[in-house]
Amino acid sequence: MTRASGHPVSIDPSTEVYGVMGHPVAHSKSPVMHNQAFAEIGYPGVYAAFDVTDVAGAADGIRALGICGVSVTIPHKVAVMAYLDQIHDQAREIGAVNTIVNERGRLIGHNTDGEGAVQALLDHTTLSGKTVVVLGAGGAARAVGHGLCSQGDIRVIFANRTEKKARHMARDLGAEFVPMADLENSRFDILVNTTPVGMHPQTQAMAVSESVLRPGLVVMDIVYNPLETRLLKQARQCGSTVIDGVGMFVYQGARQFALWTGCKPPVARMRQAVYDALNPVDN
Ligand code: ATR
Repeated sequence: MTRASGHPVSIDPSTEVYGVMGHPVAHSKSPVMHNQAFAEIGYPGVYAAFDVTDVAGAADGIRALGICGVSVTIPHKVAVMAYLDQIHDQAREIGAVNTIVNERGRLIGHNTDGEGAVQALLDHTTLSGKTVVVLGAGGAARAVGHGLCSQGDIRVIFANRTEKKARHMARDLGAEFVPMADLENSRFDILVNTTPVGMHPQTQAMAVSESVLRPGLVVMDIVYNPLETRLLKQARQCGSTVIDGVGMFVYQGARQFALWTGCKPPVARMRQAVYDALNPVDN
C-alpha cells in the first residue's frame, strides 16, 4: 500500500487509527489531508472514512476498537453529542461536535470549525476593529459566528434568508442582525458565506445580491466545490479580496490533527493535498 503521495506506509499493531464519520463520506477530502499529514511528519497513524448511520453504535465502536480520534461531519455533528463522555466548552457553546478525541476510552467532543474559519481569514486580513457579516443561520453559521465573536474587538452581524433565525442566532452569540435587504446600505469589511448556496450543482446561485460587493471588501466562502463559487468570482471581478473554502477546511483539520497527535500540523502540505484532490486533472 502507498499513500497518494507515494510515501510508503507501514501499518503494524502500534499504528493509531483515525477516521471521519458521516453520511455520505465518499467525497470527503479528510482522509487524503490527514494521511498526507501523518506521512509528512512520520507519525504512525492512518485515517479512513466511515459511512455511518448508527451513531450510537459508532461511538461504542470507537471505544471498543480503540480508534484514537474521529472527525464528525454531516449529518452527525449534533446527534453524536449524546454519546460522548465529555463536551469541550467551545463545542457546547457552538452546539455541535466535529472532532472526537479518545482519551483512554473516554470520548471527548471538540469543535474546531470556528477556529478554522478565523484562521483562514487571518491568513488574508486582520480582524481587530473589523465588522464581519455572516450569511446564514444554520450550524455552520453558528460555528463561524462563535469563532469570530471569540476574537474580542470585532463586530459580527448575521444576515439570513429566514430573518427570524438570524435574529435568534445574533442574540444567542451576542452579535447583531441585519435584514438581507439592508445589506447593500450597511458598512462592513468582511463577508463570509456559510450557506450551501453556490455549491455544485447549483453553481450559478449566490446567497447575496451582487450589489453588496465592492473593492476593498474581504469575501470568504466556506463552499469549496467549486473552488471559485459565483460569489467569489463576482467579488474578485469587482476588486474584493477572496478566500476560498479550502482555508477553513484545512485549518479545522489542522486543529484536529494537533488535538489528536500533540504535534504541529504540516498545514502547507495538508492544503496542497486538498487542492490536489479537488483538481485531480491538474496533477
Ligand atoms: P449547515 O448546518 O450546513 O449550516 P443548515 O443548518 O441547513 O446547514 O443551514 C443552512 C443555511 O443556509 C440556512 O441559513 C439557510 O437559510 P434558511 O434559514 O432561510 O433556511 C441557508 N440557505 C440554504 N439554502 C438557501 C438558499 N437557497 N438561499 C438562501 N439561503 C439558503
